[in-house]
Amino acid sequence: MIWEDVLAKFKELFGDEGEIGVYFAPGRVNMIGEHTDYNGGHVFPCALTIGTYGVARKREDKKLRFYSLNFDQLGVLESSVEGLKPEKEADWTNYPKGVMWAFGEKGMKVEQGMDLVLYGNIPNGSGLSSSASVEVLTGFILRDMFGFDVTNQDIALIGQFSENKFNGVNCGIMDQFAIAMGKAGHAIFLDTATLKYEYAPIKLENAKIVISCSNKKRGLGDSKYNERRSECESALAQISEVIGINALGDLNEAEFEQYKSAIKDPVCEQRAKHAVYENQRTIKAVEALKNNDVKLFGELMNASHVSLRDDYEVTGIELDTLVEEAWKVEGVIGSRMTGAGFGGCTVSIVKDEAVDTFIEKVGTAYKEKIGYAADFYVVEIGDGPVKLA
Ligand code: GLA
Repeated sequence: MIWEDVLAKFKELFGDEGEIGVYFAPGRVNMIGEHTDYNGGHVFPCALTIGTYGVARKREDKKLRFYSLNFDQLGVLESSVEGLKPEKEADWTNYPKGVMWAFGEKGMKVEQGMDLVLYGNIPNGSGLSSSASVEVLTGFILRDMFGFDVTNQDIALIGQFSENKFNGVNCGIMDQFAIAMGKAGHAIFLDTATLKYEYAPIKLENAKIVISCSNKKRGLGDSKYNERRSECESALAQISEVIGINALGDLNEAEFEQYKSAIKDPVCEQRAKHAVYENQRTIKAVEALKNNDVKLFGELMNASHVSLRDDYEVTGIELDTLVEEAWKVEGVIGSRMTGAGFGGCTVSIVKDEAVDTFIEKVGTAYKEKIGYAADFYVVEIGDGPVKLA
């Protein structure tokens, strides 16, 4: 499916008159720095060349007509820009609606409706941010359509706000930021405490980024994501009584070891340990990449997974199997879960000549142990959102 097909579907459903725009926003993969973005730490994600295509046209009335080629069984879903509010039995339209609502909350009321057809080639619920991709895409379309004065970074923040307040997921800024600010060939080293960022070229020499999708579905809303976040918040509250910090990301490893006894609950201590050490690992990993030390970068990725598995406890048998099988394959430089966890995907750096063996070996072992197949994608790092036509 290419954008021309999405446009054809739009015309079939909604007619071909008027000004029709064609847009794309990427998905993202995080290389390292997991569950650090709501702890004032660093992340290192990149935008992908897979993502969400959107075809849209402004309407004169208030009506919203939405259709997704990924959910054709739902047909055209109609609503209105008036009185937008989250609904209990939510479907995918809560993402674009949430962003329209969020623009209004920020003083940019969307007064007219639109017709919108989407198609995404990011596997849904896989931890590659299909929802943030739809959010950023919607913000990008609204800016283009209504001339709102917002930067791409603002679009990311509005997307996060809508996800937090409209969709009830207390996510950090990483996904929307990576998508809105993506740059081909580069990952984004972002300090989530200040939103200062730097593009770092990903030069893997003779290796590729391979994403292994566990096919274990995950919805952030019903996962333990919000629970992890509040565990970190209580750890922070307790540790701040003995050392004045704003976020767990303010601590280095030695400081954490010195003050950790302030955290009463051992589980909260484990979560905080991950947040602190993962942030430091991310800083070291970017440094390693700058020094062309891909081997060290890979080792830090592996250590990240171990910490997410043992201390943060967000992996599960599916992701652990993918990663542990990956580690056994010769030519794998590093492998870890990526995104929120609890299902979804892993990211691995694999030498060119080992990619086929990797897919074969990890795929076979996974199917044997888990009972269903994993999917593999050799991905490229792409740009942020664009208007295609
Ligand atoms: C999800 C959230 C992000 C981030 C990651 C974990 O993708 O949307 O904000 O917290 O999980 O690193």
